[in-house]
Amino acid sequence: MIVGLFASVFELFPSGDGQGRNVVLHQPATLAAMEGLFETRQGAPLIIVGQPDVQNRKIDNPLHVPKLLSFLTYYRWSAEVKGLDAFPRDEWPDNIPLLYYSYHIMVGLGTVFIAVLMVCSFLLFRKKLFSTRWALWALLLSVPFPYIANTAGWMTAELGRQPWLVYGIMRTAQGSSPTVSAGNSLFTLLGFLGLYFVMGALFLVLVIRRLHVGPDDDRQPVR
Ligand code: HEM
Repeated sequence: MIVGLFASVFELFPSGDGQGRNVVLHQPATLAAMEGLFETRQGAPLIIVGQPDVQNRKIDNPLHVPKLLSFLTYYRWSAEVKGLDAFPRDEWPDNIPLLYYSYHIMVGLGTVFIAVLMVCSFLLFRKKLFSTRWALWALLLSVPFPYIANTAGWMTAELGRQPWLVYGIMRTAQGSSPTVSAGNSLFTLLGFLGLYFVMGALFLVLVIRRLHVGPDDDRQPVR
């Protein structure tokens, strides 16, 4: 619980915050797309929820905190943050909605982890955790979320760097090798799928076996 609490706070700050700063410095168009910022703004808002409408360059049903994006990126409430309009259309990431949702799912789950672990650590500290059924359920149901957050984070990085292989210098389309055939790529992909499938199955078998063994000590289960 305690490691989880520290790790989840670390994920927000300094890790996530530092990643964001890196992106704004080296890939400003990516940051604009991740945050759903279509227009360059002084005092840019942070979008909490909303659906990006790329065609009309706006966020539908937005719920935002005014000026917070400027503050988080430059530590100044009125700082200018470049929106997608500051970049040519063919330099925008290809799939802005998927990028935006992946980023928001990652950050949203990161926030949920901090909340759940703070509450449960407090209960642990008060020696009430093992008898608080709803908290144990919350922890149990949270198990898949880090996997989802990791995948969403990876998708954020990969979708966000498009259409570049080397940002601003070499496009992904220029990076395909004439000596590697489509069949070769498919074969490698299938190999990785197989490998991950076996590792995933092994993980489940080990977890289920562990559940059958039960806890190591003699603490009584919750009734
Ligand atoms: C809590 C708030 C969080 C913030 C503000 C945040 C921010 C970021 C940012 C800005 C990036 C960089 C994207 C890029 O390089 O284009 C990133 C990547 C990533 N994040 Fe998060 N993140 C958070 C939480 C999490 C959580 C909870 C997880 C997983 C449990 C996670 C996993 C990842 C992964 C795997 C990457 C990709 C790294 C790479 O391939 O370069 N993040 N995050």
